[in-house]
Amino acid sequence: MPCHGTDPILGAELADYEIEEILFTEEQIQAKVTELARRISEDYIDRAPFLLIGILKGAFIFLADLARRIDIPMEFDFISLSSYGSSTKTSGVVRIRKDLDSEITGRHVVIVEDIIDTGLTLNYLQRNFAGRGAESVEICALLNKRTENKVHIPIKYEGFSIPDVFVVGYGLDFNERYRNLPYIATIKK
Ligand code: IMP
Ligand code: MG
Repeated sequence: MPCHGTDPILGAELADYEIEEILFTEEQIQAKVTELARRISEDYIDRAPFLLIGILKGAFIFLADLARRIDIPMEFDFISLSSYGSSTKTSGVVRIRKDLDSEITGRHVVIVEDIIDTGLTLNYLQRNFAGRGAESVEICALLNKRTENKVHIPIKYEGFSIPDVFVVGYGLDFNERYRNLPYIATIKK
């Protein structure tokens, strides 16, 4: 379904950006983020300060909103990965572009990710962090795609389950664009 009208942020026609359909509005996303933050705050109260690790760049907006609603002591770290894939699919071969700054031995870690597609990226990271001696490693992902041939990984904190479509906005990009949109939408390809 084509989405007509004017983009509230960029002030241009939505059609110019090839936005197809808004899957989650800003209000829906914010309500979900509040719920996830409340659950994490309750679960980690006895493990504080725990470490919230954001995967750059996609998770930066989700992480910023989530963290401001977590009301127990916590610390941040970031990791940046590059995967050898096309612009819309991961190959599963992951390379660390920027590693963590902190030692995670003995720490309780929550990985914050924008979207899980095949699961290969998080499968790699979870094993990598466990190998460094993290006390516990859980995953918080805003979106989880119902992709075929998925690597099964336990996702403790999941925002929304979505069909296998390519989405942008709220940190997610297509060729580095659209990350600033406050909603999540499909694009015309
Ligand atoms: P996975 O390793 O296949 O689970 O891929 C996860 C990564 O692929 C995410 O961190 C995103 O960077 C990227 N990705 C997967 N699906 C999408 C999408 O629909 N939009 C934008 N990026 C995506
Ligand atoms: Mg990513």
